[in-house]
Amino acid sequence: MNKPFYVTTPIYYPTGTPHIGSAYTTFIADTLARYHRQQGSETFFLTGTDEHGNNIAKKAEEQGISPQEYVDNYADIFQNTWKNLNISNDFFIRTTQPEHEKFAAEVIQKAYENGDIYPDSYSGWYCESCEAYYEETDLVDGKCPNHPTKSPIYTTETNYFFKWSKYQDWLLELYEQNPEFIQPTKWANWVKEFVSSGLKDIPVTRANVSWGVKVPFAPEQTIYVWYDALPNYLSIFEYPQFKSQNFGEKFWPQAVHVVGKDILKFHAILWPAMLKSAGYSLPKTILVNGFFTVNGQKIGKSNGNAVDPVELSEKYGVDAVRYALLSEFKVGNDGDFSFDRLDVKYQSDLSANWGNLHNRIIVLAEKFGVEISQSAEGKGILVGDSVVANEISKAETEYHRAFNNFEIFEAIQSVGNLASFANKYVADKRPWELETKEAAVIIADLLVIIKKIAELYVPILPETAQKALESIQNRQKIILFPKID
Ligand code: MSP
Repeated sequence: MNKPFYVTTPIYYPTGTPHIGSAYTTFIADTLARYHRQQGSETFFLTGTDEHGNNIAKKAEEQGISPQEYVDNYADIFQNTWKNLNISNDFFIRTTQPEHEKFAAEVIQKAYENGDIYPDSYSGWYCESCEAYYEETDLVDGKCPNHPTKSPIYTTETNYFFKWSKYQDWLLELYEQNPEFIQPTKWANWVKEFVSSGLKDIPVTRANVSWGVKVPFAPEQTIYVWYDALPNYLSIFEYPQFKSQNFGEKFWPQAVHVVGKDILKFHAILWPAMLKSAGYSLPKTILVNGFFTVNGQKIGKSNGNAVDPVELSEKYGVDAVRYALLSEFKVGNDGDFSFDRLDVKYQSDLSANWGNLHNRIIVLAEKFGVEISQSAEGKGILVGDSVVANEISKAETEYHRAFNNFEIFEAIQSVGNLASFANKYVADKRPWELETKEAAVIIADLLVIIKKIAELYVPILPETAQKALESIQNRQKIILFPKID
């Protein structure tokens, strides 16, 4: 039996509808969840919304509604978006749910009892969009390093601090001993450098934010949004439906947090220290994704390129949008997304290299009356031509290697290469010109290949791969990628 698998996305701020950037991270997590489910692992996939803090309270005020009403609306919008994008999350967590709030309060309480929280006053440059303080040297021309249009405000307040600095050596030791903890490796190096340059204690409560979880040992203050949000990955196991099944014991040690590079610091440096301080064990992996631009520009309403992933998928289909994002660049790198690239991928990788191949083989099989061989239906691959057997096994080996290293881009390439091989193979062998008996051997091999391609595509192009598998089963032609007007 394979090990259980637990994958999470960041819990998104419900301050706008999900854009293609949040969809990208969510597609990565969904692809990993689907891969592990297909491999027979018990899998738990969590996403949700991060609903506290001044940003939210302000937005609610602008709309003249209560923060709770505001987050209720957006939590619905997020859930509908993920449903429309065929995201297979097992639960949608919201930080305003009572089970979560109770747990978040426990995490800070335990750190307090362990002597890691103390009162002090703090001054720094506060970016409201990040809900974080910056040093003056972090600012870029007086603007937030993550929000180039926002000017952080110099703020002084008295609140409770977390002894982050105390964990500096322990963290460095953790990264040293667990080289797989932060992936891809280049991000582990970034984190090590950041920690080596020195950690300062940070305020983890807020005196002037009322829309938040009350600090148990200082109820006039609320818990800092990040100290409240990060515990969602664990608080989920306190929900009665999961607690009763001991999901925490099963899934927590296998946790993979998929996060954008913008929030790596919180996940790879703050979260482990918070867990250690409160006496919890650590997640297995922080998987970092880079950012992509759209048509060469940063995504943003002001650039007029805040692409709605649902609108896009209405035109191309969810699978094609997901494919276009995941196959463009390696997880961890930055890249660009454009409509032209989406068109090209739709026509060449999907429609020509796979869709047409698939139909061509189904039609040949029908014409020559070839069935997919019995043993190919089972786990062993029975093919007539050793060249074909080799290509299949090469693709499978690379595919599983890649998935086990979270290399989705490389996994996709291995399937694409198998499809390219099959296209060349059928063109070279020209089975339609051969005697029935001879042709049948070649077509049977090709049937095994298209079945394998569909199986390998299940985590990546779930809906289309399912259709492809059914069409093989029924030996019926199917247009996997219809013409786009
Ligand atoms: N609420 C926090 C996360 C708390 S997790 C305990 C937060 N939310 S967010 O809504 O701002 O989401 C940030 C995440 O969205 C990024 O880390 C990244 O995963 C994703 N992305 C947002 N824009 C993106 C791109 N342009 N490109 C790729 N990913 C993008 O931070």
